[in-house]
Amino acid sequence: MPEVSTVPSLDQLHALNPVQQPTYEDTGEVADVIARLRKLPPLVFAAECDKLRTKMASVAAGEAFLLQGGDCAETFDGVTASNIQNKLRTLLSMAVVLTYAAQVPIVKVGRMAGQYAKPRSSAVETRGGVTLPAYRGDAVNGFAFSPESRRPDPQRLLGVYNASSATWNLTRAFVTGGFAHLRSVHTWNADFVKNSAAGVQYQNLASEIDRALAFMVACGIDDNVFGTVDFFSSHEALILEYEHALTRIDSRTSLPYGTSGHFLWIGERTRQLDGAHVELLRHVRNPLGVKLGPTTTADTALELADRLDPDHEPGRITFITRMGAGKIRDVLPEVVAKVTASGRQVAWVCDPMHGNTFEARNGYKTRAFSDVMEELNGFFDVHEELGTWPGGVHVELTGDDVTECVGGSDDLVEADLVNRYETLCDPRLNRNQSLELAFLVAERLTTGRIRRANPVQNYVPVSL
Ligand code: PEP
Ligand code: CO
Repeated sequence: MPEVSTVPSLDQLHALNPVQQPTYEDTGEVADVIARLRKLPPLVFAAECDKLRTKMASVAAGEAFLLQGGDCAETFDGVTASNIQNKLRTLLSMAVVLTYAAQVPIVKVGRMAGQYAKPRSSAVETRGGVTLPAYRGDAVNGFAFSPESRRPDPQRLLGVYNASSATWNLTRAFVTGGFAHLRSVHTWNADFVKNSAAGVQYQNLASEIDRALAFMVACGIDDNVFGTVDFFSSHEALILEYEHALTRIDSRTSLPYGTSGHFLWIGERTRQLDGAHVELLRHVRNPLGVKLGPTTTADTALELADRLDPDHEPGRITFITRMGAGKIRDVLPEVVAKVTASGRQVAWVCDPMHGNTFEARNGYKTRAFSDVMEELNGFFDVHEELGTWPGGVHVELTGDDVTECVGGSDDLVEADLVNRYETLCDPRLNRNQSLELAFLVAERLTTGRIRRANPVQNYVPVSL
């Protein structure tokens, strides 16, 4: 366990000139909000973060696979029962596909209950000759294009706390209260479009699971062991005021934890080695993710790992690579090879979304399912080549039947994007596309060298 370290003050973090932060007009109001946030209870319990770190250690060791997914940007408006339920059942269905088809334990993490702040490539947006601050997520300002709405409003940080709290409360109820019971595997997707290929494939797999469960029950096994699942929250730790106010000293260990979510990650745009985000997060005990884009060098990855994880603690570091379908095969091998050669065992996770965004001819920001799969296949190929473990997938998805990404077995085309384009930020996979991705990933996990390298899959029946 690392020695007790002092969390830097907010002033110390600001002295590091943090990037991607809102500029608030009324600093007194910001101070009031921070004071209020500091008094509110933590959103997650430190021991849960430890549990997830242990699970991430299994991922890093090649014994488990991470499924992390959810909206690009959650919204306050989107905090509804059906929205949360749809997202959860999509993630649970994907996890079931991966567990059953690939026979690998799946670590389940929602990109939810805190994912309200967005880094932007430009600080401003211009429409029809009018320039206003860019939308930075509901944590900061409103999406509507008016000066009032785009003004950074510190009260929104309390809104993030409340929205995260409500989302996590229902999610906890679902994952422990019966909804996630494996016996419900059919019902999660019972309303699926009957002719969707992924839907049919899913219902077939669900029937197999039913039979397997019935067999176990007939053998006398109590199927209540399948009644709950471990599920964790995650988001990009971006807004320093919020993350700092929710950094708390754990009463069990006297060590600091980020209590805004279980797994916190640092984005591609805020991972400067001497930057404020690395400085804050290196002090908290949570399992951490770092996004690595196509310009990442192996040395940068190693320096980040040394700074955030000087003690080489199992499960502490997850590198989420998002290189783009066209670049991953060129860039990833050297990064993985050198980090591995250094003796570090990190979790390698593929985000096949953020390197594959483009603008469709009709102006919509979109992604092609084929590019997403191409990056994932590149990820699996590189790890297979190097003999390292492809530890997981990080995707932007929703449980609704939106039309934001093109392709997939339903063959969405650019002209379809107009039908149900609801994201306020990046395009997400819809439920069909998410399930299809899960089946394709399961296939990659059961073929080639990867299969032989995975101890869980090496289970051999005893012959007498
Ligand atoms: C994101 O995950 O939504 C994001 C902005 O990613 P990245 O930091 O990799 O660009
Ligand atoms: Co995004």
